Amino acid sequence: MSDLVATLRDGRRREREQAFFYRILAGDAEAASDQAAADRLNGLLADEQHHVSRLTARLLELGERPTDESSSLVVPSLRDWESVAKVREEDEVRWYEAALHHVEDEDTVAVLREILASERHHREQLAGKWMPAGSASPSEKTRETP
Ligand SMILES: [Fe+2]
Repeated sequence: MSDLVATLRDGRRREREQAFFYRILAGDAEAASDQAAADRLNGLLADEQHHVSRLTARLLELGERPTDESSSLVVPSLRDWESVAKVREEDEVRWYEAALHHVEDEDTVAVLREILASERHHREQLAGKWMPAGSASPSEKTRETP
């Protein structure tokens, strides 16, 4: 396996784990009727799923078949999610920065840079890319829902 393929597989495995992490927490937030947390966690989940798709597409373009390894990730309680997520997002930013130091393939560099920008946003905001700053309160959101 080339270094490039190994990097893409590792990145994809990590993104799948991040998506799983936020999926569980978003479900917990919805079960606890914490709509504000659920909105942020669902935004993060959507971004991480998008990252999985981007890395999967790049692997397929390279003629590779993505594999889905199982994960033994332990997800924290809803009360602690922000501190744990912050550490995980800092780690994601470091991983992409390191990958960009050794990946030379132009198309892959473009994908990694795009994801890195999103991960930096996650690290700073702990929210998804498309959630506006100072977003609507839960009651305002409810009114927007048809
Ligand atoms: Fe992230």
